[in-house]
Amino acid sequence: MKRNTVTTISRQKAEGSKIAMLTAYDFSTARLMDEAGVEILLVGDSLGMTMLGYKDTLPVTMEDMISATAAVSRGTENALVVADMPFLSYQTSVYDAVVNAGRLVKEGMAEAVKLEGGVNYAPHIKAITEASIPVMAHIGLTPQSVNALGGFKIQGKDEESGLRLIDDALAVEKAGAFAVVLECVPAELGTLVSKMLSIPTIGIGAGVGTDGQVLVYHDMLGLYGRKSPKFSKRFADVGALMKRGVFDYIAATKTGSFPAEEHCFGIDDDLLVKLRRYADVKGEDKEE
Ligand code: KIV
Repeated sequence: MKRNTVTTISRQKAEGSKIAMLTAYDFSTARLMDEAGVEILLVGDSLGMTMLGYKDTLPVTMEDMISATAAVSRGTENALVVADMPFLSYQTSVYDAVVNAGRLVKEGMAEAVKLEGGVNYAPHIKAITEASIPVMAHIGLTPQSVNALGGFKIQGKDEESGLRLIDDALAVEKAGAFAVVLECVPAELGTLVSKMLSIPTIGIGAGVGTDGQVLVYHDMLGLYGRKSPKFSKRFADVGALMKRGVFDYIAATKTGSFPAEEHCFGIDDDLLVKLRRYADVKGEDKEE
């Protein structure tokens, strides 16, 4: 299978071939998804919620992201690995944005970074891109702005917010982003923006007209244990399967049906006789 790069991802838009992207936060899951053929693995700061149990993504640190990105990179052979820039790793200055994007590449082995924001973050995108680090932008619902947005709300529903989405999309493209995530916008707006841009759009709750889709894998595999968003689809109930396996393990442990002979290591008979004698002697000493 071919290695995906920002060039192959851009080509997919030109060829009309939809891009499949999923989140991943660890080595084993990344390896499974890579083997299944997903084209982009996003080490999303959603790991704050799905892996670390926070209520939103705001507490996620650079160290959290670097450690997860390095694990995903080690588990990936073909997918393009994109790492999210966590809250306040780039909002503080263009300088911080370049330094922290660089850390995700140098220490996390990311091949691209993603950051949230449109017009206001065009200078950051431009500077990171000029440092030879590809940037995926993220507009529409930007979860790091949850407090400013007044909650996880659909964007682009009124004229002001719709116009802003279009301006943001054009600004991130002009700044050099190689792709852009459109989160939680009306499907028609997702299609409109996708047709307007020459870079690929990756939708999450943005309808079928985008150039690709992304989902948080905990939602699509039934692992999160909390209510999934309306735009997500459960493609498999891995959570239920895991629970079943754990129930069976507990039952087998309690009844003694696990471990069976095939799970045990043998020992030479003569050695066993010797060790038994030795244990008897030691046992007697202990009793005295
Ligand atoms: O952090 C994340 O998982 C994301 C996706 C929802 C696009 O940003």
